[in-house]
Amino acid sequence: MKKAPNIILVGPMGAGKTTIGRLLSQAMGKEFYDLDKVIEDNAGADIPWIFEREGEDGFRKRETQALSSLVQSDKENCVLATGGGIVMRDENRSILNDGSVVVYLYASVSQQLYRTSKSSHRPLLQTGDPKATLRKLFEVRDPLYREVATLVVETDARHPKSVANKVLDAI
Ligand code: S3P
Repeated sequence: MKKAPNIILVGPMGAGKTTIGRLLSQAMGKEFYDLDKVIEDNAGADIPWIFEREGEDGFRKRETQALSSLVQSDKENCVLATGGGIVMRDENRSILNDGSVVVYLYASVSQQLYRTSKSSHRPLLQTGDPKATLRKLFEVRDPLYREVATLVVETDARHPKSVANKVLDAI
């Protein structure tokens, strides 16, 4: 029997991937995974620790490993929230494009900044000007999110429940 597709959420930091992912998994009766959490569980350490000890490169290797074992294993029917940098590696984009429904949760740079300003667990925003960093990342990543997306949903002016409903209506 053909596997049911996984629903994978991509988008920048602050797009609401984890919140929307949880809502979708409840509404659809699918299991929910947060890739950052899976990486942390596998490493037995949190993301800031991984960045500090292994650099961004070490984190990206762990990210690809976790993505590939979740998506290419027997897991089906799950909702997966990814980290904002998931589209940076060709290998990851190939995995994303391989039969999953990929939803790009779009958020403007000012919304990303607003929504990430209260947390301090994102290593990429700990040095320099966070707005400039988010803008730079957005310029590189927005076309890549669009390249892998089956569906793009705008989140700026929407409550998480309304974003989740929009996704449910479209898939
Ligand atoms: C990252 C985003 C983070 C996390 C890591 C790197 C990025 O996830 O994976 O800090 O490169 O944009 P969220 O998008 O869930 O914040």
